[in-house]
Amino acid sequence: MRHELICTEAATSPRLAVRGAPRPHPGAGEVMVKVQATSVNPIDVKRASGYGRRLLGLKGAARFPLVLGNDVAGVVESIGANVTGFARGQRVFGLLGTGRSGGAHASHVVVPQALLRHAPQGTGPDALAVLPYSFTTMWLSLRSIGITPANARGARVLIHGANGGLGRLAMQVLHHWGSQITAICAKGECQAALDLGAVAAVEYGPGCIESLPPDFDAVLNFANWDDDARLASHLGPRAMGQATTVHPLLANFDRLGWLGGAWASRRDRGRIRAIVASRAPKARYAWTIFKPDPQALEVLAEGVRARRLALPVGLAVPLDNAVAAYDHVLAGRPGRAVLLP
Ligand SMILES: NC(=O)c1ccc[n+]([C@@H]2O[C@H](COP(=O)([O-])OP(=O)(O)OC[C@H]3O[C@@H](n4cnc5c(N)ncnc54)[C@H](OP(=O)(O)O)[C@@H]3O)[C@@H](O)[C@H]2O)c1
Repeated sequence: MRHELICTEAATSPRLAVRGAPRPHPGAGEVMVKVQATSVNPIDVKRASGYGRRLLGLKGAARFPLVLGNDVAGVVESIGANVTGFARGQRVFGLLGTGRSGGAHASHVVVPQALLRHAPQGTGPDALAVLPYSFTTMWLSLRSIGITPANARGARVLIHGANGGLGRLAMQVLHHWGSQITAICAKGECQAALDLGAVAAVEYGPGCIESLPPDFDAVLNFANWDDDARLASHLGPRAMGQATTVHPLLANFDRLGWLGGAWASRRDRGRIRAIVASRAPKARYAWTIFKPDPQALEVLAEGVRARRLALPVGLAVPLDNAVAAYDHVLAGRPGRAVLLP
Protein backbone atom coordinates (compact mmCIF):
# COMPACT_ATOMS: atom_id res chain seq x y z
CA MET A 1 0.00 0.00 0.00
CA ARG A 2 1.16 3.55 -0.71
CA HIS A 3 0.06 6.57 1.31
CA GLU A 4 -0.43 9.72 -0.69
CA LEU A 5 -1.29 13.27 0.25
CA ILE A 6 -4.14 14.50 -1.89
CA CYS A 7 -5.33 18.01 -2.37
CA THR A 8 -9.06 17.41 -2.65
CA GLU A 9 -10.27 20.65 -4.25
CA ALA A 10 -9.02 24.08 -5.24
CA ALA A 11 -9.13 26.48 -2.26
CA THR A 12 -6.96 29.29 -0.89
CA SER A 13 -6.64 27.38 2.36
CA PRO A 14 -5.37 23.98 1.12
CA ARG A 15 -7.83 21.05 1.49
CA LEU A 16 -5.58 18.09 2.23
CA ALA A 17 -6.14 14.43 3.09
CA VAL A 18 -4.02 11.27 3.24
CA ARG A 19 -5.38 8.23 1.43
CA GLY A 20 -4.21 4.74 0.64
CA ALA A 21 -3.59 3.64 -2.94
CA PRO A 22 -2.00 0.64 -4.65
CA ARG A 23 1.80 0.78 -4.77
CA PRO A 24 3.10 1.84 -8.17
CA HIS A 25 5.38 -0.49 -10.16
CA PRO A 26 8.49 0.77 -11.93
CA GLY A 27 8.40 0.42 -15.71
CA ALA A 28 11.43 0.16 -17.99
CA GLY A 29 14.05 2.75 -17.03
CA GLU A 30 12.20 3.61 -13.81
CA VAL A 31 13.01 3.25 -10.13
CA MET A 32 10.52 2.87 -7.28
CA VAL A 33 11.63 4.97 -4.32
CA LYS A 34 10.42 4.69 -0.74
CA VAL A 35 10.17 8.38 0.05
CA GLN A 36 11.79 9.54 3.28
CA ALA A 37 11.36 13.25 2.62
CA THR A 38 9.68 15.47 0.04
CA SER A 39 9.29 19.24 0.12
CA VAL A 40 6.43 21.72 -0.15
CA ASN A 41 7.48 24.45 -2.57
CA PRO A 42 5.65 27.74 -3.22
CA ILE A 43 4.27 26.24 -6.47
CA ASP A 44 2.49 23.48 -4.50
CA VAL A 45 0.68 26.05 -2.38
CA LYS A 46 -0.30 27.98 -5.51
CA ARG A 47 -1.47 24.83 -7.34
CA ALA A 48 -3.55 23.86 -4.29
CA SER A 49 -5.55 27.04 -4.92
CA GLY A 50 -6.19 26.13 -8.57
CA TYR A 51 -3.30 28.21 -10.01
CA GLY A 52 -2.14 27.05 -13.42
CA ARG A 53 -5.29 25.06 -14.13
CA ARG A 54 -5.33 25.81 -17.86
CA LEU A 55 -1.70 25.37 -18.88
CA LEU A 56 -0.92 22.60 -16.36
CA GLY A 57 -4.24 21.03 -17.34
CA LEU A 58 -2.71 20.43 -20.80
CA LYS A 59 -0.25 18.06 -19.08
CA GLY A 60 -3.04 16.43 -17.05
CA ALA A 61 -1.64 18.05 -13.90
CA ALA A 62 -4.58 20.17 -12.76
CA ARG A 63 -7.43 17.76 -12.10
CA PHE A 64 -8.39 17.43 -8.41
CA PRO A 65 -7.80 15.38 -6.34
CA LEU A 66 -4.16 16.22 -6.99
CA VAL A 67 -0.99 14.71 -5.58
CA LEU A 68 1.41 17.67 -5.51
CA GLY A 69 5.17 17.88 -4.97
CA ASN A 70 8.24 17.40 -7.18
CA ASP A 71 11.16 16.66 -4.85
CA VAL A 72 12.10 13.18 -3.67
CA ALA A 73 14.69 11.85 -1.21
CA GLY A 74 14.56 8.25 -0.06
CA VAL A 75 15.68 4.68 -0.62
CA VAL A 76 15.43 2.50 -3.74
CA GLU A 77 12.74 -0.11 -3.17
CA SER A 78 12.72 -1.77 -6.60
CA ILE A 79 13.95 -1.15 -10.13
CA GLY A 80 12.39 -1.66 -13.57
CA ALA A 81 13.95 -3.23 -16.65
CA ASN A 82 17.03 -1.57 -18.15
CA VAL A 83 17.89 0.33 -14.98
CA THR A 84 21.63 0.58 -14.49
CA GLY A 85 23.43 2.28 -11.64
CA PHE A 86 20.72 1.89 -8.98
CA ALA A 87 20.03 -1.04 -6.67
CA ARG A 88 17.57 -1.83 -3.90
CA GLY A 89 18.49 -0.18 -0.57
CA GLN A 90 20.58 2.68 -2.03
CA ARG A 91 19.89 6.24 -0.82
CA VAL A 92 18.81 8.52 -3.64
CA PHE A 93 17.33 11.92 -4.34
CA GLY A 94 15.77 13.49 -7.40
CA LEU A 95 12.78 14.88 -9.09
CA LEU A 96 9.41 14.23 -10.68
CA GLY A 97 8.14 16.34 -13.56
CA THR A 98 4.76 18.01 -13.26
CA GLY A 99 2.38 15.72 -15.09
CA ARG A 100 -0.46 13.27 -15.33
CA SER A 101 1.05 10.60 -13.09
CA GLY A 102 1.01 12.81 -10.01
CA GLY A 103 3.52 14.29 -7.61
CA ALA A 104 5.97 13.34 -4.90
CA HIS A 105 3.88 13.87 -1.75
CA ALA A 106 3.53 10.14 -1.15
CA SER A 107 5.23 7.23 0.61
CA HIS A 108 6.32 5.54 -2.66
CA VAL A 109 6.93 7.10 -6.07
CA VAL A 110 8.23 5.92 -9.42
CA VAL A 111 11.01 8.13 -10.81
CA PRO A 112 12.73 7.91 -14.22
CA GLN A 113 16.34 6.87 -13.58
CA ALA A 114 17.59 9.96 -15.47
CA LEU A 115 16.05 12.13 -12.73
CA LEU A 116 17.62 10.31 -9.77
CA ARG A 117 21.06 10.71 -8.24
CA HIS A 118 22.83 8.87 -5.44
CA ALA A 119 22.52 10.71 -2.14
CA PRO A 120 25.83 12.28 -1.12
CA GLN A 121 27.18 10.83 2.12
CA GLY A 122 26.51 12.87 5.23
CA THR A 123 23.48 14.73 3.86
CA GLY A 124 20.13 13.61 5.26
CA PRO A 125 16.89 13.15 3.32
CA ASP A 126 15.27 16.36 4.57
CA ALA A 127 18.27 18.46 3.48
CA LEU A 128 18.22 16.76 0.05
CA ALA A 129 14.47 17.00 -0.47
CA VAL A 130 14.48 20.80 -0.50
CA LEU A 131 16.91 21.12 -3.39
CA PRO A 132 16.08 19.53 -6.77
CA TYR A 133 13.05 21.59 -7.87
CA SER A 134 14.45 24.93 -6.70
CA PHE A 135 17.95 24.24 -7.98
CA THR A 136 16.68 23.11 -11.38
CA THR A 137 14.55 26.24 -11.80
CA MET A 138 17.42 28.49 -10.75
CA TRP A 139 19.78 26.63 -13.11
CA LEU A 140 17.37 27.02 -16.03
CA SER A 141 17.23 30.77 -15.29
CA LEU A 142 21.01 31.09 -15.47
CA ARG A 143 21.15 29.02 -18.64
CA SER A 144 18.32 30.95 -20.34
CA ILE A 145 20.38 34.13 -20.29
CA GLY A 146 23.68 32.43 -20.99
CA ILE A 147 25.48 32.72 -17.63
CA THR A 148 28.13 30.01 -17.43
CA PRO A 149 31.27 29.42 -15.34
CA ALA A 150 33.20 30.75 -18.37
CA ASN A 151 31.62 34.22 -18.34
CA ALA A 152 30.40 34.59 -14.74
CA ARG A 153 33.70 35.67 -13.16
CA GLY A 154 33.45 39.35 -12.29
CA ALA A 155 29.97 39.66 -13.82
CA ARG A 156 27.72 42.06 -11.94
CA VAL A 157 24.54 40.12 -11.12
CA LEU A 158 21.46 41.59 -9.44
CA ILE A 159 19.24 39.08 -7.59
CA HIS A 160 15.74 40.03 -6.45
CA GLY A 161 14.37 37.58 -3.86
CA ALA A 162 17.89 36.80 -2.67
CA ASN A 163 16.76 35.27 0.64
CA GLY A 164 14.33 32.80 -0.92
CA GLY A 165 15.14 29.28 -2.05
CA LEU A 166 16.07 30.21 -5.62
CA GLY A 167 17.92 33.34 -4.54
CA ARG A 168 20.11 31.52 -2.02
CA LEU A 169 21.01 28.79 -4.50
CA ALA A 170 21.82 31.39 -7.18
CA MET A 171 24.12 33.18 -4.73
CA GLN A 172 25.85 29.91 -3.79
CA VAL A 173 26.50 29.11 -7.47
CA LEU A 174 27.41 32.62 -8.65
CA HIS A 175 29.66 33.35 -5.67
CA HIS A 176 31.52 30.10 -6.40
CA TRP A 177 31.89 31.23 -10.03
CA GLY A 178 33.27 34.61 -8.93
CA SER A 179 30.36 36.92 -9.80
CA GLN A 180 29.81 40.26 -8.08
CA ILE A 181 26.34 39.81 -6.58
CA THR A 182 24.00 42.57 -5.47
CA ALA A 183 21.14 41.15 -3.41
CA ILE A 184 17.69 42.65 -2.95
CA CYS A 185 16.62 41.25 0.40
CA ALA A 186 13.64 40.83 2.64
CA LYS A 187 13.52 43.08 5.72
CA GLY A 188 16.37 42.33 8.13
CA GLU A 189 17.98 39.77 5.79
CA CYS A 190 20.84 41.79 4.23
CA GLN A 191 23.50 40.28 6.48
CA ALA A 192 22.42 36.76 5.48
CA ALA A 193 22.96 37.69 1.81
CA LEU A 194 26.39 39.20 2.53
CA ASP A 195 27.32 36.01 4.42
CA LEU A 196 26.47 34.02 1.28
CA GLY A 197 28.89 36.12 -0.75
CA ALA A 198 26.92 39.14 -2.01
CA VAL A 199 29.14 42.22 -2.39
CA ALA A 200 26.16 44.52 -1.74
CA ALA A 201 22.72 44.02 -0.25
CA VAL A 202 19.72 46.34 -0.06
CA GLU A 203 16.48 45.89 1.80
CA TYR A 204 13.40 45.75 -0.41
CA GLY A 205 11.19 48.83 -0.11
CA PRO A 206 10.10 51.99 -1.92
CA GLY A 207 12.94 53.45 -4.02
CA CYS A 208 15.31 50.53 -3.40
CA ILE A 209 15.56 49.43 -7.04
CA GLU A 210 15.95 53.04 -8.22
CA SER A 211 18.87 53.46 -5.80
CA LEU A 212 20.88 50.71 -7.53
CA PRO A 213 23.58 51.27 -10.17
CA PRO A 214 22.40 51.14 -13.82
CA ASP A 215 24.97 48.70 -15.22
CA PHE A 216 24.26 45.11 -14.20
CA ASP A 217 25.39 42.31 -16.50
CA ALA A 218 22.52 40.06 -15.47
CA VAL A 219 19.32 40.32 -13.47
CA LEU A 220 17.46 37.43 -11.82
CA ASN A 221 13.94 38.23 -10.67
CA PHE A 222 12.80 35.58 -8.19
CA ALA A 223 10.52 37.88 -6.21
CA ASN A 224 7.98 40.15 -7.85
CA TRP A 225 6.66 40.51 -11.39
CA ASP A 226 5.62 44.12 -10.71
CA ASP A 227 9.33 45.00 -10.42
CA ASP A 228 10.39 43.38 -13.70
CA ALA A 229 10.38 46.59 -15.78
CA ARG A 230 12.29 48.61 -13.17
CA LEU A 231 14.85 45.82 -12.80
CA ALA A 232 15.36 45.67 -16.58
CA SER A 233 16.17 49.37 -16.67
CA HIS A 234 19.25 48.61 -14.54
CA LEU A 235 20.93 46.41 -17.16
CA GLY A 236 24.17 47.76 -18.58
CA PRO A 237 25.10 48.04 -22.28
CA ARG A 238 26.97 44.69 -22.38
CA ALA A 239 24.39 42.80 -20.31
CA MET A 240 23.73 39.08 -20.85
CA GLY A 241 20.10 39.46 -19.90
CA GLN A 242 17.30 39.16 -17.39
CA ALA A 243 15.47 36.00 -16.29
CA THR A 244 12.29 35.98 -14.26
CA THR A 245 10.54 33.07 -12.57
CA VAL A 246 7.67 35.27 -11.36
CA HIS A 247 6.14 35.99 -14.76
CA PRO A 248 2.35 36.04 -15.22
CA LEU A 249 2.15 33.29 -17.89
CA LEU A 250 0.04 30.75 -15.96
CA ALA A 251 -2.03 33.42 -14.22
CA ASN A 252 -2.82 35.15 -17.53
CA PHE A 253 -4.26 31.93 -18.98
CA ASP A 254 -6.18 31.16 -15.77
CA ARG A 255 -7.68 34.65 -15.70
CA LEU A 256 -8.23 35.43 -19.35
CA GLY A 257 -8.70 32.09 -21.10
CA TRP A 258 -6.78 30.76 -24.09
CA LEU A 259 -6.93 33.71 -26.45
CA GLY A 260 -6.83 36.43 -23.81
CA GLY A 261 -4.05 34.65 -21.92
CA ALA A 262 -1.92 34.28 -25.05
CA TRP A 263 -2.46 37.91 -26.01
CA ALA A 264 -1.72 39.27 -22.52
CA SER A 265 1.40 37.11 -22.15
CA ARG A 266 2.73 38.28 -25.51
CA ARG A 267 2.08 41.88 -24.52
CA ASP A 268 3.64 41.49 -21.03
CA ARG A 269 6.73 39.73 -22.31
CA GLY A 270 7.09 42.16 -25.22
CA ARG A 271 6.91 45.16 -22.90
CA ILE A 272 9.87 44.03 -20.75
CA ARG A 273 11.78 42.62 -23.71
CA ALA A 274 11.67 46.08 -25.29
CA ILE A 275 13.22 47.62 -22.17
CA VAL A 276 15.91 44.93 -22.07
CA ALA A 277 16.69 45.50 -25.78
CA SER A 278 16.84 49.26 -25.29
CA ARG A 279 19.45 48.78 -22.55
CA ALA A 280 21.58 46.12 -24.27
CA PRO A 281 20.85 45.03 -27.84
CA LYS A 282 22.37 41.57 -27.37
CA ALA A 283 20.78 40.84 -23.99
CA ARG A 284 18.25 38.01 -23.62
CA TYR A 285 15.00 38.22 -21.75
CA ALA A 286 13.58 34.93 -20.43
CA TRP A 287 10.54 33.66 -18.57
CA THR A 288 11.75 30.58 -16.74
CA ILE A 289 9.44 27.57 -16.64
CA PHE A 290 10.45 24.62 -14.48
CA LYS A 291 11.07 21.33 -16.21
CA PRO A 292 13.27 18.44 -15.07
CA ASP A 293 16.82 18.70 -16.33
CA PRO A 294 19.32 15.85 -15.82
CA GLN A 295 22.29 18.20 -16.24
CA ALA A 296 21.01 20.46 -13.46
CA LEU A 297 20.69 17.41 -11.18
CA GLU A 298 24.27 16.45 -11.97
CA VAL A 299 25.55 19.90 -11.02
CA LEU A 300 23.38 19.85 -7.91
CA ALA A 301 24.67 16.44 -6.76
CA GLU A 302 28.26 17.62 -7.24
CA GLY A 303 27.59 20.86 -5.32
CA VAL A 304 25.97 19.01 -2.42
CA ARG A 305 28.89 16.55 -2.28
CA ALA A 306 31.29 19.51 -2.15
CA ARG A 307 29.11 21.12 0.58
CA ARG A 308 28.60 24.21 -1.58
CA LEU A 309 24.82 23.94 -2.01
CA ALA A 310 22.21 23.79 0.75
CA LEU A 311 18.99 25.41 1.88
CA PRO A 312 17.83 25.72 5.47
CA VAL A 313 14.93 23.49 6.50
CA GLY A 314 12.40 25.42 8.57
CA LEU A 315 9.91 22.66 9.32
CA ALA A 316 9.68 18.88 8.86
CA VAL A 317 6.38 17.13 9.61
CA PRO A 318 4.72 13.78 8.87
CA LEU A 319 2.33 13.50 5.90
CA ASP A 320 -0.72 13.63 8.15
CA ASN A 321 0.35 17.05 9.43
CA ALA A 322 0.96 18.40 5.92
CA VAL A 323 -1.32 21.33 6.59
CA ALA A 324 1.38 22.74 8.92
CA ALA A 325 3.90 22.58 6.07
CA TYR A 326 1.52 24.30 3.64
CA ASP A 327 0.79 26.99 6.26
CA HIS A 328 4.54 27.45 6.76
CA VAL A 329 5.01 28.21 3.05
CA LEU A 330 1.82 30.26 2.76
CA ALA A 331 2.91 32.45 5.69
CA GLY A 332 6.42 32.92 4.20
CA ARG A 333 8.11 31.59 7.36
CA PRO A 334 11.89 31.10 7.18
CA GLY A 335 13.32 27.85 5.85
CA ARG A 336 11.87 25.24 3.54
CA ALA A 337 9.01 22.96 4.53
CA VAL A 338 9.49 19.19 4.38
CA LEU A 339 7.07 16.28 4.55
CA LEU A 340 8.25 12.98 6.05
CA PRO A 341 5.95 10.27 4.61
N1 LIG B 1 8.23 29.74 -13.19
C1 LIG B 1 8.57 28.61 -12.58
O1 LIG B 1 8.61 27.51 -13.18
C2 LIG B 1 8.91 28.68 -11.12
C3 LIG B 1 9.60 27.61 -10.51
C4 LIG B 1 9.99 27.75 -9.18
C5 LIG B 1 9.64 28.89 -8.48
N2 LIG B 1 8.93 29.87 -9.09
C6 LIG B 1 8.56 31.08 -8.38
O2 LIG B 1 9.75 31.81 -8.15
C7 LIG B 1 9.62 32.55 -6.94
C8 LIG B 1 10.83 32.26 -6.06
O3 LIG B 1 10.78 30.92 -5.62
P1 LIG B 1 11.39 30.55 -4.21
O4 LIG B 1 11.21 29.10 -4.04
O5 LIG B 1 12.73 31.15 -4.07
O6 LIG B 1 10.37 31.34 -3.24
P2 LIG B 1 10.63 31.79 -1.74
O7 LIG B 1 11.58 30.87 -1.09
O8 LIG B 1 9.28 32.00 -1.16
O9 LIG B 1 11.38 33.20 -1.87
C9 LIG B 1 10.81 34.30 -2.47
C10 LIG B 1 11.61 35.53 -2.09
O10 LIG B 1 11.06 36.66 -2.77
C11 LIG B 1 10.65 37.65 -1.83
N3 LIG B 1 9.37 38.21 -2.27
C12 LIG B 1 8.23 37.53 -2.49
N4 LIG B 1 7.26 38.38 -2.91
C13 LIG B 1 7.82 39.60 -2.96
C14 LIG B 1 7.33 40.88 -3.31
N5 LIG B 1 6.07 41.07 -3.72
N6 LIG B 1 8.18 41.92 -3.26
C15 LIG B 1 9.47 41.74 -2.85
N7 LIG B 1 9.99 40.56 -2.48
C16 LIG B 1 9.17 39.50 -2.54
C17 LIG B 1 10.48 36.92 -0.51
O11 LIG B 1 10.67 37.83 0.54
P3 LIG B 1 9.74 37.71 1.85
O12 LIG B 1 10.28 36.55 2.60
O13 LIG B 1 9.89 39.02 2.53
O14 LIG B 1 8.33 37.48 1.35
C18 LIG B 1 11.56 35.85 -0.59
O15 LIG B 1 12.81 36.35 -0.21
C19 LIG B 1 8.30 32.12 -6.30
O16 LIG B 1 7.32 33.07 -6.61
C20 LIG B 1 7.99 30.81 -7.00
O17 LIG B 1 6.60 30.53 -7.04
C21 LIG B 1 8.56 29.80 -10.40
